[in-house]
Amino acid sequence: MGRLYNYIIEIMKKIVVLTGAGISVESGIKAFRSEDGLWENHRVEDVATHSAWFRNPQLILDFYNTMRAQLESKQPNRAHICLAEKEKDYEIVVVTQNVDNLHERAGSTHVIHLHGELTKACSSSNEIDEYCFVDIGYKPIKMGDKAKDGSQLRPQIVFFEEAVPNIEPAARQVETADIMIIIGTSMQVYPAAGLIRYAKRDTPIFFVDPKPQVQSQPNLTIIAEPASTGVDKAFELIDKL
Ligand code: APR
Repeated sequence: MGRLYNYIIEIMKKIVVLTGAGISVESGIKAFRSEDGLWENHRVEDVATHSAWFRNPQLILDFYNTMRAQLESKQPNRAHICLAEKEKDYEIVVVTQNVDNLHERAGSTHVIHLHGELTKACSSSNEIDEYCFVDIGYKPIKMGDKAKDGSQLRPQIVFFEEAVPNIEPAARQVETADIMIIIGTSMQVYPAAGLIRYAKRDTPIFFVDPKPQVQSQPNLTIIAEPASTGVDKAFELIDKL
């Protein structure tokens, strides 16, 4: 069974999918770059930077506790589900900038989170030490909750000004992709937006976003639609390759 499984994986085409906030919009989760520049009524500098944690940890805990509690009632949409279903035909690796768990709940089995996960907590002294990660589900983190190293627990969110440890494994996946799909991202935040450059020159890239912001290149097909319909359209084209 093991050898047969390996053989099937070897002959399947590998698709690396980079997702951003846009894929979860139709699940009722707001994107980041709204017209007023605010994220859930807060300035990004107040709730998503390393320095903000030291300035006002209670605000950060409250902000992510609320978002985590709301996540429980959100459901994966057609786009998340389609990516999970396509694992029967393709080897699919999802690289997501999202901190929600909708890819996993849709059934995707290989998900790399670049910017952390809402349902995990980490040490506030060493945010990249996985030994200190704790699965907290949808529960709140309170002041006084401690990581294994004795430090205050904080959300396992990669804040601006912090390293992105999963960028290397993500880049290795993109380098070996036969096909790339990019869904619902403004391509404004690096290093995530730079992953497109790791694709081989002849790798077809499909970009699904109702307001696509990407430089055109010969192998790029833009599908200017919401994720739910756009991902189906991308696979209509991919299935014919
Ligand atoms: N389907 C697909 N895409 C959509 C939809 C939809 N229904 N609705 C909006 N979009 C697109 C927008 O057109 C935009 O291009 O989703 C994109 C969302 O862009 P951002 O809000 O900038 O989100 P993202 O690119 O994921 O941001 C990257 O920035 O704040 C940080 O860490 C945060 O991971 C996040 C990163």
